[in-house]
Amino acid sequence: METNYKRTLVTTALPYANGPVHIGHLAGVYVPADIYARYLRLQGRDVTLVGGSDEHGVPITIKARNEGVTPQDIVDRYHKIIKDSFEELGISFDVYSRTTSDIHRATASEFFTRLHDRGEFVEKTSLQLYDEKANQFLADRYVTGECPHCHNPRAYGDQCEACGTSLNATDLINPKSAITGETPVLRETHHWFLPLDRWESKLREWILEGHKEWKTNVYGQCKSWLDLGLQPRAVTRDLEWGVPVPLKEAEGKVLYVWFDAPIGYISNTKEIYPDSWEKWWKDPETRIVNFIGKDNIVFHCIVFPAMLMAYGDNYQLPDNVPANEFLNLEGDKISTSRNWAVWLHEYLRDFPGKQDVLRYVLTANAPETKDNDFTWRDFQTRNNSELVAILGNFVNRVIVLTHKYFDGEVPAAGELADIDRALFDEIDSIKQSLTDNIETFHFREALKDAMNIARAGNKYLQETEPWKVAKTDMARVATILNTALQICADIAIAFEPFMPFMSRRLADTLHMGKLTWATLGERDIIKAGERVDSPELLFEKIDDEPINAQIERLARIKRENELKNFKPAEVQPATDFETFSKIDIRVGTVVNCEKVKKSKKLLRFLIDDGIGQRTILSGIAEHYQPEELIGRQVCFIANFPPRQMMGIDSEGMILSAMNADGSLSVITPSVNVVNGAQVK
Ligand code: 2FM
Ligand code: ZN
Repeated sequence: METNYKRTLVTTALPYANGPVHIGHLAGVYVPADIYARYLRLQGRDVTLVGGSDEHGVPITIKARNEGVTPQDIVDRYHKIIKDSFEELGISFDVYSRTTSDIHRATASEFFTRLHDRGEFVEKTSLQLYDEKANQFLADRYVTGECPHCHNPRAYGDQCEACGTSLNATDLINPKSAITGETPVLRETHHWFLPLDRWESKLREWILEGHKEWKTNVYGQCKSWLDLGLQPRAVTRDLEWGVPVPLKEAEGKVLYVWFDAPIGYISNTKEIYPDSWEKWWKDPETRIVNFIGKDNIVFHCIVFPAMLMAYGDNYQLPDNVPANEFLNLEGDKISTSRNWAVWLHEYLRDFPGKQDVLRYVLTANAPETKDNDFTWRDFQTRNNSELVAILGNFVNRVIVLTHKYFDGEVPAAGELADIDRALFDEIDSIKQSLTDNIETFHFREALKDAMNIARAGNKYLQETEPWKVAKTDMARVATILNTALQICADIAIAFEPFMPFMSRRLADTLHMGKLTWATLGERDIIKAGERVDSPELLFEKIDDEPINAQIERLARIKRENELKNFKPAEVQPATDFETFSKIDIRVGTVVNCEKVKKSKKLLRFLIDDGIGQRTILSGIAEHYQPEELIGRQVCFIANFPPRQMMGIDSEGMILSAMNADGSLSVITPSVNVVNGAQVK
């Protein structure tokens, strides 16, 4: 990192206060931003971490309408949940505010007024969708319809989530109002537009020439936007919820949520530094870093910078926008509407005291360069075989040995042996890599580096075997344990950005006081003669039970969603009774049933069909254990010609129904009937 900066302003995308935050938000934005801010503080740099809730926008009004409450009720509820859960997870915001605050409304209003007065907007009267039943223009998510690009039938008026294209509501094919379900009409309305085209060449130069170091996903998205050519974008909406447009002629209109939200970064800075906020925004010696998810790139790299340039007054543009890709959950896209998420406040309730485990797993799996997957099994494995078995185990062994041989006092080191010096050298080179990785926003790699400190420590104990040396040479044991205790201190420092709770506990055990990055790797971070508290385990094993409960919860949600989304197949073209009666369906009892060797799908049935016994193969092995079918009655087609599969003759076909989740269920008569009975 260039060091000619005096201070760093770290911002995190403002989450919409229409729901709690989930692990996708955390992995994409808040955990990396917190790692970065904590690291800078350990480096002794001047840093402010700014966050807040995004409390405007259409989804909030839709939720309020559905629940029969006011938008303010909705944002009050979720702002509190979000703020409290961030705090409990240790996200070290210097300020976490909200866009319904007075200071924000005033700041956003003034921003608009200045742009307006400077002639930075173009005004246009255009045709917009209007719901005549609700007497309302339909902005953004108030309309759904077919995407003109990918033909997804459920695209929104501002975006198609299937193909990612950003849309205008009037682009939708066959639009429908989300309020009444009616087909909207077109009606004239007047709006203010930010002519992004005016800023295109400045933006091209600033990003494409000036910021080649940005992450490739961010740079690439900017380039494709710029190459398409920028258009004016409306910054006002016909809505009741939002910051009112500060113009007499704009009654009933508010600022578009994406106009006011990024200004929230400024208002929140003002809130903590009422007298000195300007230096955080207007001094070229301030470095601004925006942590966001990939869906926010255009707003942070194109729209907001254009707004800042239009405002002038020396506002600084972000120095970096390290946007992440998305985190999936158990192989599926996280979705608030489908409840397919691990919600932070629920995690904190279900796994009390395990904030660091979540922070660790989300960083180890951070979607830095591509979408990534969170699974509960991986969460459990990383806890048990990394945090417990590598990190916790090393620290515990060192502290136990210090108590055993030196009564809990840091022993003085004698002359270092080669192996001790080699260990310190290794920590030095790990520190170099760790520092570089954090500064270039490669937090996954940085976490691996930090973990390598514990790995190196374990290897050192394994090789020096102080418990054996203790039989002959206590002076050497003193040197080994002094060295190992320095590694424990390194762990407390190196992991502070990633796992601050563990770090604080360990630092307290070692009586370390305030931690600083500069001392990481030093040979006497903790001094001989200092006391070390009794060992307490830093991490505990996570059993199968709580993990299975989470997996079961997700399975339940998946089943519920499948049922909700189940659409019966279209009815087949008409047939007649004669055709139907040619198919001879009968009931028989399963005499035997077993898996067909080397086949994943096939079960081999022996059926008593009332005449004799026949063999039928059926592809339902993934849905039943063979034993559970023995003795049951099933329906089968009796007049199919025999067919060979896997070298076995199959004489018929067993009938099953396919459930919404794709599972198969054999058809059984509701009471036992005689074998050979025909199904009519
Ligand atoms: O995508 C979102 O969740 C937005 N609420 C992010 C806003 S970021 C900033 F501009 F405030
Ligand atoms: Zn689409």
